[in-house]
Amino acid sequence: MKAVRIHTFGLDGLAMVDLADPKEPKDKEILVRLQAVSLNYRDWLMVKGLYNPDQALPLIPCSDGAGEVVAVGKAVQSFRPGDRVVGTFFQDWLAGPFEKKYAQSVLGGPLDGTLAEYIILKEEGALPVPKNLSFEEAATLPCAALTAWNGIVEEATVSPGQTVVVQGSGGVSLFSMQFALACGAQVIFLSRSEEKIEKAKRLGAKEGINITKEKNWHRKVRELTEGRGADVLIDVLGGNLEESIKAVKHGGMVCSIGILVGLKAEIDVVSLLMRQAKIHGIYVGNRLMFEAMNRAITTLGIKPLIDTVFPFSQYKEAFLRLESGKHFGKIVLRLGGKSGVL
Ligand SMILES: NC(=O)c1ccc[n+]([C@@H]2O[C@H](COP(=O)([O-])OP(=O)(O)OC[C@H]3O[C@@H](n4cnc5c(N)ncnc54)[C@H](OP(=O)(O)O)[C@@H]3O)[C@@H](O)[C@H]2O)c1
Repeated sequence: MKAVRIHTFGLDGLAMVDLADPKEPKDKEILVRLQAVSLNYRDWLMVKGLYNPDQALPLIPCSDGAGEVVAVGKAVQSFRPGDRVVGTFFQDWLAGPFEKKYAQSVLGGPLDGTLAEYIILKEEGALPVPKNLSFEEAATLPCAALTAWNGIVEEATVSPGQTVVVQGSGGVSLFSMQFALACGAQVIFLSRSEEKIEKAKRLGAKEGINITKEKNWHRKVRELTEGRGADVLIDVLGGNLEESIKAVKHGGMVCSIGILVGLKAEIDVVSLLMRQAKIHGIYVGNRLMFEAMNRAITTLGIKPLIDTVFPFSQYKEAFLRLESGKHFGKIVLRLGGKSGVL
């Protein structure tokens, strides 16, 4: 099979290689022919050696992929050859609170990931593709969509009439916007680009703030919420946590998700405690949440927003598109010839 592997850290250390096809799946495993893979910022950090400099190489990167089952182990009950499936980010986190050991079961590091024609998944590490989605669309769900769902629905329990702030136009933020809108909330969309703000408004965002022009954007958020502050803020920037805390209402929640502008943040403790705000760390989500999210996606007809679909051979161009920050939505690689909805 063809696979892309990280041989040394950095874009030049990525190469497409021919590997032996995976062996027969074991009793509770399935063999999947991947049709589409989506990229996450984490995958790019992994390629650059910034996510885990101690990661053993070579490694097949990427956590997210969807495809068709080609063979199943003897004890598999939920899938048959021909079924359309999407893998889970954590192969072992099925339900309940997170435990450290689950971090050892992540595709795309430490385990080999999805940027290959075939992958063996645990039976419980895969779910049926929602009926309304193509392989390309389903491939965007395991990391970005589930993280957004975990923040908006599971932890913040967003309800009608609330205000949710999302930052930037990457996968997590746009899924957060879509789920917040589905919950009946209004969305304030932060971006460095006027053009992207206009796009987000066409998709339902109530207001947009250009954070390049408005450095102290929390003031604008307060203004737009009649001084109250937002109910929930999905923080993917990281380094700007203080602005996020100041942008939420008393008792509001900041979901701490990303690190786009830094791994460390200085915060004004007084503004946190006087606001009685909650900062909640989010780490993707478990299988049970993924099932609930897929039901919502099917019932509400939610379609993931895709920026570009690249052919497999253009994996480097795809990573460079991600790095550019110019994208609006998910970047996807098409590996096989199938893409359609059932
Ligand atoms: N905790 C978790 O479980 C989890 C899960 C998924 C992702 N993440 C993290 O969440 C973050 C976002 O991930 P993603 O996959 O959604 O990212 P992404 O698709 O790469 O999106 C990035 C977007 O953020 C904005 N942006 C990028 N660099 C920026 C900068 N320096 N300053 C301000 N805005 C910037 C851009 O939007 P505009 O051009 O519109 O400004 C860009 O389109 C990453 O740090 C990722 O590692 C965490």
